[in-house]
Amino acid sequence: MNGKPEETITGGPAAESRGASAGSLFTVDRSRSYDVDLLRSTEFPWTSDTVYLNNASIGPLPERTRLVLEEFNRGRAAPHKLHDRELFAMLADTRGKIARLIGAAAEEIALTVNTGFGIGMAARALPLEPGDIVLVSDKEFPANVYPWLRLEDRGVSMELVPTTAEGWPDEARLLERLRDSRVRVLAVSLVQFSNGYLVDLDRLSAATRESGAFLVVDAIQGIGQLPVDLSRTPVDVLACGAQKWLLSPWGSGFVYVRRDLIGTLDPAITGWLSFEGTDDLTRLTQYNDTLRADARRFELMTLPYQDFAGLNASLDLLLSLGIGRIRDHIRTLHRPVVEWAERSGARIVSPRGASGSGILCVAPEGVREVHRRLKAARIVCSLREGAIRLSPHCYNTVAEMERVAHALAAD
Ligand SMILES: Cc1ncc(COP(=O)(O)O)c(C=O)c1O
Repeated sequence: MNGKPEETITGGPAAESRGASAGSLFTVDRSRSYDVDLLRSTEFPWTSDTVYLNNASIGPLPERTRLVLEEFNRGRAAPHKLHDRELFAMLADTRGKIARLIGAAAEEIALTVNTGFGIGMAARALPLEPGDIVLVSDKEFPANVYPWLRLEDRGVSMELVPTTAEGWPDEARLLERLRDSRVRVLAVSLVQFSNGYLVDLDRLSAATRESGAFLVVDAIQGIGQLPVDLSRTPVDVLACGAQKWLLSPWGSGFVYVRRDLIGTLDPAITGWLSFEGTDDLTRLTQYNDTLRADARRFELMTLPYQDFAGLNASLDLLLSLGIGRIRDHIRTLHRPVVEWAERSGARIVSPRGASGSGILCVAPEGVREVHRRLKAARIVCSLREGAIRLSPHCYNTVAEMERVAHALAAD
């Protein structure tokens, strides 16, 4: 135990149905990993027959989250059981949990329905002028391209910076371009969707603090699998949908806006709760044109409450497992496939080491056929930009990755 406190992971209704003692399912020594077998059987029971390595596309809902959604919808069918104050409190809870997850303050979090909303909000609200340039690395996911491209209507141009020969963001080149005073925004993904490249956020943060350009981060492929601490690594805007690595319903997500920036951003679209005092439902027509001082000014209420109820449940699970431990666990999973690639000469498209993440992409000969073979072996993964993308999460095992390596080798 090393004298470290134990952490209890609560199992929710699934645990109770298995006869576990009320509330607590299993305990974890903070200094060690969690019990993956128990996690699989209680929260992801279907893992007994399918190897699911597609979290970069759709993260599965843990059992506890599925049950929370069912329970919420039971109340939704009889809405006299739902109360505005409780619904608002639930969203406040979500903002608090997200803030804890990324080292921010709850006031800096606006809840959104996806990543694109946050990036689009930033593109329209940042104070950009004709002649300004937005830097985007080539090969970014389109959610982080089109909102910037469309700023042409304001005379703001998007510059696609070519990737390195490996197809990864060229950070040295991005930093060089930041020296151009016309560059007002650097928009990057924390982790690239097609190869898992993890940017050096510290480096990009420091460079943008120095140049004065805004740093906007599409974080959907990173948050949930990698620790992020914005209190140590400042960014200006960070957008994230929760449907992938946060194992949450479609329709849940958030955008972080740095505290000092919030008051200066005038959202192009506002919700009826974006204004001060509007939570008092007894005097809604006493209109107030003062935007909220916190990030709620960016929220487009009404939001899908059921999805945020689900997000809360998934966040509880992820926070109790510990994102650092999840990252460490995922790192142990890649080895069998990397060894197969090294033996067979298949190209590993993903970076290894500090720029690596939980996403591992390999490009063997006849990649489409190999992908079909994996599918036939009940191994679920994606084909992206000419490579097989394997994206394991907290519940996957080395034995599963050995199965993948075996299926890859069987030609
Ligand atoms: C980097 C990246 N950004 C954004 C998205 C999705 O955006 P949204 O949450 O708006 O659907 C994806 C994947 O679907 C992605 O890989």
